[in-house]
Amino acid sequence: MGAPAGLPAVMRLYVETYGCQMNVADTELICGLLAGEGFESTTDPSRADVLLVNTCAVRDNAEQRVIGRLSELRRYKRPGIVLGVVGCMAQRLGQQLLDRVSHVDLVIGPDGYRALPELIEGARRGNRATETRFKAWEHYEDVPALRGDGPRAFVTVQRGCDYRCTFCVVPITRGRERSRRLADVVAEVENLVDHGISEVTLLGQTVNSYNDGQHDFADLLSAVGTVEGIRRVRYTSPHPNDFSERVLLAMATVPTVCEHVHLPVQSGSSHILKRMGRRYDRRQYEECVANLRRSIPNLAITTDIIVGFPGETEEDFLATESLVRQIGFDDAFTFKYSQREGTGAVRLPAQVPEATKGERLERIIATVREIACSRNLQLIGSREEVLVEGLARRGELLQSRTRANKVVLISGPAEWIGSYLTVRLTGTTGATFTGVPSAAGKELTIVG
Ligand code: 5AD
Repeated sequence: MGAPAGLPAVMRLYVETYGCQMNVADTELICGLLAGEGFESTTDPSRADVLLVNTCAVRDNAEQRVIGRLSELRRYKRPGIVLGVVGCMAQRLGQQLLDRVSHVDLVIGPDGYRALPELIEGARRGNRATETRFKAWEHYEDVPALRGDGPRAFVTVQRGCDYRCTFCVVPITRGRERSRRLADVVAEVENLVDHGISEVTLLGQTVNSYNDGQHDFADLLSAVGTVEGIRRVRYTSPHPNDFSERVLLAMATVPTVCEHVHLPVQSGSSHILKRMGRRYDRRQYEECVANLRRSIPNLAITTDIIVGFPGETEEDFLATESLVRQIGFDDAFTFKYSQREGTGAVRLPAQVPEATKGERLERIIATVREIACSRNLQLIGSREEVLVEGLARRGELLQSRTRANKVVLISGPAEWIGSYLTVRLTGTTGATFTGVPSAAGKELTIVG
């Protein structure tokens, strides 16, 4: 009723998200922004009036996957149906993407989402467009994110990145670093509590360099961590150089801040770290971990590792393996180096052959698994507080998580979702655990 002829009364939006947690959070902003324009979300692309793919540019295979997916989504393109590419790959390729993929209507980078309603409107009339201007002030402060169900939420506190790691495309795709005002973050978290959220993950490219001009990351942890109703605070990803004494103190003294840090190391070889422009060497990384462990007992540490960076010799690679053993990472994301246009490492000599990268990746994965498994086996029998997050992917079990970010599958009714329980860890696959709810000292009988 009331819709102009030929236009559906309600526009349906379908979004697919690739890449990091910040992309997930950006998708929630996009959905919130378009919900404000009357769009309804759908999980069925065949029913959508607007299809968006929120993309990652950090490795070439992430982009190739999107190109493949765009071909598949072509089947949903009919006159009046809009297909848009948003996010980091959109920012990186801009007009090139419109030129190369003829059925794509819109290409919009991470700072351009406010233009979506207008550009969608134009695209429905046949105007293909790109929006890739950086906006150093943009935090989408007035846009209410549309989040999924569950007790956990992502909260972006910082956008962009001022580091210049030579492998990394992110400064090119997300622009300069800027932080939201602490008061705005706290107001958002208070609002989340009102909507049943008790765990937040603060997001930023180098999140512990957060600074709004008046407050640093330590202030932010304290402020968010003491919002009434917040029981768990996590953050990702910090940079080793930004762990000030103040941040360590906040982690140690704010009880809601969880005992887990995802601290990307990238390589265990000082020679490679220097070529990566990481601004720390192996010894400094080890010291950072030692300081963290001294401040926070039972801290779980996970990391990111790149193998096959230009100039990486077998000896450099072995140094990374030895660091994995020495630190005893609880887990790691491992990647083959991927050349990114416009980054410093593209010009570096001694690119590593693909076969060597593949072989090193397999070896590092095996080492990470072995170390993670042996650490996890030591936890069997211990009691942990878990937050029940939702249904496990397979079977009838519930998925829950410890403060140290270990996934524990438990059996119980769906009513437990969103609540905190004490469980005894009964087994592990090496990566995830099984657990049984327990009260101090005795097992609970599970009814139903
Ligand atoms: N090649 C491979 N991995 C990369 N990462 C970032 N850039 C590249 C690249 N060019 C990895 C890093 C980073 C994670 C998000 O992605 O390990 O921490």
